[in-house]
Amino acid sequence: MERGYLIALEGVDGTGKSTQCGLLADYLESAGYPVVRLREPTTGVWGQKIRKILTEGRGDVTPEEELQYFINDRREDVEQNIAPALKQGKIVLIDRYYYSTAAYQGALGFDPVKIIKENEVFAPRPDRVFIIEVSLDESFRRIEKGRDTISSFEKREYLEKVGKIFDTFSGDHIRRIDSSPPKDEVQAVLRREVNDLLGIKEII
Ligand code: TYD
Repeated sequence: MERGYLIALEGVDGTGKSTQCGLLADYLESAGYPVVRLREPTTGVWGQKIRKILTEGRGDVTPEEELQYFINDRREDVEQNIAPALKQGKIVLIDRYYYSTAAYQGALGFDPVKIIKENEVFAPRPDRVFIIEVSLDESFRRIEKGRDTISSFEKREYLEKVGKIFDTFSGDHIRRIDSSPPKDEVQAVLRREVNDLLGIKEII
């Protein structure tokens, strides 16, 4: 492989995206592929500032600063993790990437198209973006069932806006995955898509 593959999983909170990302990583690893699993926000300095907003609320952090935190965090992720792994021919599976910035910070009033353009200046465009979709009611059921605490972003009105922005993204590299069926069925669909991308003939 000359350059690896970059695969991003995106979607609103509570769609089962992280679970699917983990199952996909297991699948590719068991098929012998070198996989690097990442997630944004990262655990780096900017990621920590972001986590503080998620747990404590936005406080006096302005929307401009919030957007900048996510971009700074991604810049570091690209330099330290994404670009080197792709250069080594690895498959990078990332749980959230710049489409999340376009949707979530877009929902604060920034132009999502502009956010995507600004990110694509420094962040490699994924070979595939899987937008994991489920109804907002189901998302909230999953959020409430799966966690003890709810983040400051997980508010219905906000996530509704975020979801509407995710609905506007299109392109040859974007696929929408219905996450309302049981998780194994969703995973089978994802694996078929990834087999297709990587030229793997059979589902193992
Ligand atoms: P999430 O993947 O949900 O983290 P966790 O698994 O720890 O809950 O991401 C945290 C939140 O950050 C989520 O609500 C989406 C939001 N987010 C943005 O607002 N902009 C971004 O650019 C990214 C990557 C995430």
